[in-house]
Amino acid sequence: MNETRRAVLAALDDGPVTGPALAERLEVSRTAVWKHVEALRDAGFVVDSVADGYVLAGVPEYGAAAVEFGLDAPFDVEYHDALPSTNDRARELAADGASDVVVLADRQTGGKGRRGREWSSPAGGVWTSLLLRPDVPPARAPLLTLAAAVAVTDAAREAGVDAEIKWPNDVVVSDERDSSGRGGAKLAGVLTEMEGEASRVSWLAVGVGVNVNLDPGELDGEATSVRAEVGDVPRRVFVQRLLERFAALRDDPDDILTAWRERAATIGQRVRVETADGDVVGDAVDVTEHGALVVDTADGAQVVHAGDCQHLRSA
Ligand code: BTN
Repeated sequence: MNETRRAVLAALDDGPVTGPALAERLEVSRTAVWKHVEALRDAGFVVDSVADGYVLAGVPEYGAAAVEFGLDAPFDVEYHDALPSTNDRARELAADGASDVVVLADRQTGGKGRRGREWSSPAGGVWTSLLLRPDVPPARAPLLTLAAAVAVTDAAREAGVDAEIKWPNDVVVSDERDSSGRGGAKLAGVLTEMEGEASRVSWLAVGVGVNVNLDPGELDGEATSVRAEVGDVPRRVFVQRLLERFAALRDDPDDILTAWRERAATIGQRVRVETADGDVVGDAVDVTEHGALVVDTADGAQVVHAGDCQHLRSA
């Protein structure tokens, strides 16, 4: 949303305000004000014309303008009703030089999960990718993936969901619905893609999928959703809280690992991690800043960088 439209929206929110007063305040013509008001109406905002001028009477349920309205985080939002994958769209935007753009889709037709899996993404979830250009070496990039898991967990908790993080970066809810005994029904996942050189990240697409206003039956595997846990929530607000929390963590990277550990369900568990080199079984004792899991095994401590983790029981 451009600056003038954002200012018009803020003024309407504080309204009523007349067209001429708004034109004078923003130093634009009355016709320009009228065009901005019409564009806002087209985007789903309800702008009432009352005796004292215009006033904002309603915000659209979801979409770019809806999420940007009142957002306290420095991101532009791009919204699509449907995309193959928000990560792929973020990659396209990266090629055009964009940064700090949040791609949002109501549904994905080719959603991607970790380890080449499909990620089911029907309408009603939060499917988003944050395109970032952090000025860090690639070794520091995993911290932003950890930050995304923390941000999702906090947004879910604010919505009333008892969420926690399961290594590597799943957000789960442990309860009787989790018949697998593997460490919780999955609420959300994070898939980060990046490009860069040895010394510097060029761009990073932090892809976040959250099962929000969906029935678990619409999803693959042992999944849960915000709807199943606490009922439907406004996705606009959920995304705003997620982005605001993520932006705060990005500004204070030294806090990320501590925040992740505090929300981690995996640390302190006996685990089996399926890796490309075989299973690692032992007690999960920590996570590193590279997002690796430290497992105390019968043969000593092992640092596991990638794999599927099963919680066996509390250590
Ligand atoms: C996982 O397997 O746990 C990671 C799932 C990540 C899914 C999200 S949805 C938004 C973004 N776009 C994708 O295609 N994948 C990620």
